[in-house]
Amino acid sequence: MVNVPEPSVIVIFGGTGDLARRKLLPAMARLAHGKHLPPTTQILGVAREPMDDASFREFVQEALTAAKVPKDVTQALCGTCLHYTSIGTATPADFEAVAARIASLEQAHDLPGNRAFYLALPPQVFALTIEGLGAAGLNQSAGWTRLIIEKPFGHDLASAHELNRLVHAVYREDQIYRIDHYLGKETVQNLMVLRFANTIFESVWNRDRVEAVQITVMEDIGVGSRGNYYDKSGGAIRDMLQNHLTQLFTLVAMEIPSAYEADAIRYEKIKVLRSTRHLDPNRVVRGRYLGNGKVPSYLDEPDIPNTSTTETFVALELFVDNWRWAGVPFYLRTGKRMGKTLSQIAVRLRPSPAALFDKFQVKLETADTLIISLQPDSGFSLHFDVKVPGTPFRTERVPLDFRYAARYSESPEAYETLLLDVLEGDQTLFVHADEVEQSWKLYTPILEAPTPLHEYVAGTWGPDGASHLAIPDADLWQENWKR
Ligand code: BG6
Repeated sequence: MVNVPEPSVIVIFGGTGDLARRKLLPAMARLAHGKHLPPTTQILGVAREPMDDASFREFVQEALTAAKVPKDVTQALCGTCLHYTSIGTATPADFEAVAARIASLEQAHDLPGNRAFYLALPPQVFALTIEGLGAAGLNQSAGWTRLIIEKPFGHDLASAHELNRLVHAVYREDQIYRIDHYLGKETVQNLMVLRFANTIFESVWNRDRVEAVQITVMEDIGVGSRGNYYDKSGGAIRDMLQNHLTQLFTLVAMEIPSAYEADAIRYEKIKVLRSTRHLDPNRVVRGRYLGNGKVPSYLDEPDIPNTSTTETFVALELFVDNWRWAGVPFYLRTGKRMGKTLSQIAVRLRPSPAALFDKFQVKLETADTLIISLQPDSGFSLHFDVKVPGTPFRTERVPLDFRYAARYSESPEAYETLLLDVLEGDQTLFVHADEVEQSWKLYTPILEAPTPLHEYVAGTWGPDGASHLAIPDADLWQENWKR
């Protein structure tokens, strides 16, 4: 059965921006195609440039074509439900105009007053927009009102705290949906099912059985045209580690929640962050890519000042000081311009305690490893030693594999899942204010006192000096890793 939320007005601030074009509008078209959007849903694009409804509709058509959305999916998005209002110079009168436009759409389409405000905006204008929304009374309505905020949520602990204060002055926490699109990925959601629906995993998910955990998010792309944002507000720590990798880390490490619901799950994730030991700067390696003849160095990318000290790679070690994880290292690693795009979580189990097969002079591989793979192909695999039939006595490493693509024909995109959750009022896959602050608290010391920057050549696996911050002898992310 298809879930259909109540009809609403979805207002996209930054409606003509990159995120709207590449992700939000295609996700809305797919939701409409899957009949998840009630037909009376109205979408209001808001941005600076002057534009009318007709030209916004054209813009959306072009965006969907550019995003390679199939024609039947594009057609499912009701063209006349797309509207546009310019925010001009974002004066109070401009916000009043947005409010008036929403009210007239609600009246014309007989809507119950449900409103979702999506801030697909650069972080510099978050504060201005939230205050403008509040001043125009757009924080409450006859139905529900929800605010969706894209990352980055702050750039350190102090700024995240300040942004939370500002948002809370206008909206209640239960109205706020902080997006981390990793939480919308199917495999990430499946991580909880894997852990909590299958006794085999939960029984080994602790310090007695697990030797180390490694969370890897490698990308082959560089910073491309996003140099301006990346160099000032990004870097591997701010752009990837503080949010996406930390979300994966808390989901792997958290205790079993009391229920599968937002409050219970977010509470457990916050507990993990509170139990995480202060970072040891000696166990943090930052890197920056050099050109390789085919692609430029980071410093030669557009908009990157040659005085930049921003990292494009980081690897570090975390410890969770609680009963379940005491002494187990968690290695978090992420980088741009790596040899390959690959995201995975490796859970390395302790080796078997007795060397029973030594007399056959077989060399058993290292201990069993569960690989939860997010990209490029989602799924998981567990590798075992088995006996090769016949003589002499020999063992071999074989995988037990599950691939989403082999079993299911299609999975929703992360933004589709997340948008639908907003419309249904489910905050499970969104980040709580305390989570954001705890996470910044963990990384702010290395942002304030950065460790040295090591160079690596584009297309490799990061600086040599980072290899100790990984599960020993298991370069699991490498292309040539075959068992
Ligand atoms: C974004 C980062 O949040 O995530 C980008 O800003 C990064 O730098 C992207 O490339 C990665 O997302 P995905 O879904 O492609 O792994």
